[in-house]
Amino acid sequence: MFGRVGGLVLAAGKGVRMHSETPKVLRAILGEPMLSYVLRACASVCEDRIHVVVGYGADTVRQAFPEREGRFVVQDRQLGTGHALATALPVLVAAGYEHVLVLNGDMPLLSREILAGFVAEAMAQQADVAFVSIELDHPGSYGRVVRASGGVSIVEAKDYDESRHGAASGEINAGIYFLRLSVAQKLVPLLRNENQSGEFYITDLVEMTTQSGGVVAAINRGRDAALLGVNSPRELSMAEETLRAGLVDALYDQGVLVRNPGQVRVGPRVAIAPGVEMTGPCELYGDTAVGAKAKVGSHVWIRDSKLAQGCEILPFSHLDEAQVGPLCKVGPFARLRAGAVLCEDARVGNFVEVKKSVLGRGVKAGHLTYLGDAEVGAGTNVGAGTITCNYDGKNKHATVIGENAFIGSNTSLVAPVTIGADALIGAGSVITHDVPDGALAVARGRQNNIVRKTPAS
Ligand code: UD1
Ligand code: CA
Repeated sequence: MFGRVGGLVLAAGKGVRMHSETPKVLRAILGEPMLSYVLRACASVCEDRIHVVVGYGADTVRQAFPEREGRFVVQDRQLGTGHALATALPVLVAAGYEHVLVLNGDMPLLSREILAGFVAEAMAQQADVAFVSIELDHPGSYGRVVRASGGVSIVEAKDYDESRHGAASGEINAGIYFLRLSVAQKLVPLLRNENQSGEFYITDLVEMTTQSGGVVAAINRGRDAALLGVNSPRELSMAEETLRAGLVDALYDQGVLVRNPGQVRVGPRVAIAPGVEMTGPCELYGDTAVGAKAKVGSHVWIRDSKLAQGCEILPFSHLDEAQVGPLCKVGPFARLRAGAVLCEDARVGNFVEVKKSVLGRGVKAGHLTYLGDAEVGAGTNVGAGTITCNYDGKNKHATVIGENAFIGSNTSLVAPVTIGADALIGAGSVITHDVPDGALAVARGRQNNIVRKTPAS
């Protein structure tokens, strides 16, 4: 339906009002860059025909979206939204679009419905230039929509002069435009920066289109808060809260039981199966998936992790790039770092840290342990206080433990080292040599009980 509509997202600004060195469009909302929300909404209309204008922190923005390489247009100096459009124009023309949907990059609440509805309406009105307006009690820094007998125009807040433009109506410009490319090609070179900001404004195209006899459509969407931009930390936080509440609400529809929902934070790519139970406060971000009937306790933080069905994550656990098999129990107070893989029914208890290690089926590491660069065979018991000494100051080394071994408490396994299947390690050992299958290894000072010369009085 929108086959020849290209997309252009304006994302070159720094976002001065955010008071951060990070480009505004990269600021995270539920663990994802703000720009990713805009791109997702835009893709629902423009599919893969989306170009992004970058400028401030261009390299950082590009690196955050490597899959879009080839679709970036660099605006070296940020001379305004009209200049951003001018910079991208040759690329849009070369792509052969008839129309372009132009979006400010700071509108994370945009939805498919809003954009598809707007574009359909703009097309129905055969507009050369269309934009979305909304109503605000306090128009703040937004561009004001002025509807005069000669036609509609947008006057930026800094340039608004009541004596000239009349009392502000509260109707403002949302920052979403639909442009007929042939008209933009004609008018964009005529943009001027003689205004209070000294910038080229995309919004000037509205009045210019009317003056040149074109069709303008100002499409009013009432008080839809999803059309608000993010310009300050407060607005970022408010947008995040709106998205959060919506995502949690959608979980109920999918059959997830969410307790303390106000304190559950879930990113937009997180997939949670029906029958899962989760209790806030907890946070799940990135490419995380939670299998059916799993339980996620309170004060849990999870990112980019796969949780299989029926597993249980107990309170205060931290999981980053981990995989948890079916029926596993993790925590309370466990930490699974990148590459931690727990096979079915494994158990990782309190104050246990696992990094880049595979724990076989039914492995138990219940207390106070560090397992790094390790492979632990099925059925093995790792005693309290076991440490894999995987780092010699320069390199990381592997520890391999066979099936059904028993590692006594407070054992140091100095890698590289291999412990055989069914081996037994005496508590307090420092293991520096391989232990064969079935062997008992004890590597500690022998206990001597000696009579004291002066017994305690
Ligand atoms: C803009 C509109 C204003 C509207 C508001 C809605 C203009 C002149 N004004 O104001 O009418 O009410 O959005 O939020 O357009 N950008 C570039 N290159 C630049 C300047 C900006 O790519 O040289 C990008 C920014 O990264 C941002 C977007 O354009 O994503 C809008 O810029 P911003 O400075 O936030 O414009 P506003 O002052 O909010
Ligand atoms: Ca803005």
